[in-house]
Amino acid sequence: MKKTIFFLENRLFFRKFKIFASNERKEKTMSIHTPPIRIDTPYLPFGDMKNAPLYQKDILSVNQFHRRELEAIFAVAHEMEEMVRRIGTFDLLKGKILANLFYEPSTRTSASFTAAMERLGGSVIPINEVRYSSVSKGESLPDTVRTLEAYADVIVLRHPEVGSAALAAQYASKPVINAGDGVGEHPTQALLDLHTIREELKQVDGLTITMVGDLKYGRTVHSLARLLSRFDVRLNYVSPDILPFPEEIMAEVAAKGIPQTQYTNLEAVIGETDVLYVTRVQKERFEDPQAYERVKNAFVITPETMQQAKEEMILMHPLPRVGEISMEVDSDPRAAYFRQVEYGLYVRMALLAMVLGKA
Ligand code: NCD
Repeated sequence: MKKTIFFLENRLFFRKFKIFASNERKEKTMSIHTPPIRIDTPYLPFGDMKNAPLYQKDILSVNQFHRRELEAIFAVAHEMEEMVRRIGTFDLLKGKILANLFYEPSTRTSASFTAAMERLGGSVIPINEVRYSSVSKGESLPDTVRTLEAYADVIVLRHPEVGSAALAAQYASKPVINAGDGVGEHPTQALLDLHTIREELKQVDGLTITMVGDLKYGRTVHSLARLLSRFDVRLNYVSPDILPFPEEIMAEVAAKGIPQTQYTNLEAVIGETDVLYVTRVQKERFEDPQAYERVKNAFVITPETMQQAKEEMILMHPLPRVGEISMEVDSDPRAAYFRQVEYGLYVRMALLAMVLGKA
């Protein structure tokens, strides 16, 4: 009997306690207050330099850069090189995340952005095979970037359509960096190309730059010619006649007062060239495979070609090469294309640090 009473009392107590506890919980739930997340405060994000020249900016076209900003980018890139050579990595972008979204093949651009982010202590969401992502289910570019920006601080995008990076930037509130939009532009490549020229030849004004190969579809030369038009240079365009440099870009460059000449053979200009910039014939942009076959080997740089070139000049290529420069040329000290790859790492480190407000 005593035992039963004790048991009942206990149950009663337990029930009372449960009611009390659940009331407590209800009260607590009702009193939770979630203030809105403040983005624009003087304290957050911690330590970002909001007045940095590229802070939170998209990088869509080289046309957005003036000489002053270019100087700043190359100065930071130079510091990045020193840092990498001395200590390898440091934590400038610790905790920052890059979404690397590639709808077209890439080795250098994608890997160098990854390396750049990781050398600065940040991390990367790689989406290289869009076949395996929701893009293959038919997701639109605006939806994909609005999703990725929920996870990342910056988006690098390569896409086959001209204007795709601008479209992505219109929808994303985080910075978008154009890593190649079809035959349009490749601004970070042009920046690293210009940095290479400066580091190797110590100047840009006064140089003669000769671009060779597929000047119609090659986006790297489209961006590079526009960027060089900010300097006092001469431009030569050497291409098969079915792959000429686009007239509208020539008009833009001419408006800056830059002399430009078109050729179909290299012999005419090799001797006066300070920078020989060779490009691949862009097979993937051809509708007619036979037309590609006809022009694919139109220009091949060999040791004999280099004999006609100046002693003080550089040979560049954005890579990949598929036969335009023979491998025997690689040991020529003027062959700068693998050094160019390395400069690309430093320029991309600089761009990421600057866009994220750390330089
Ligand atoms: C270039 C590109 O993708 O436009 N590659 C690169 O980024 N270095 C050049 C090319 O594919 O021919």
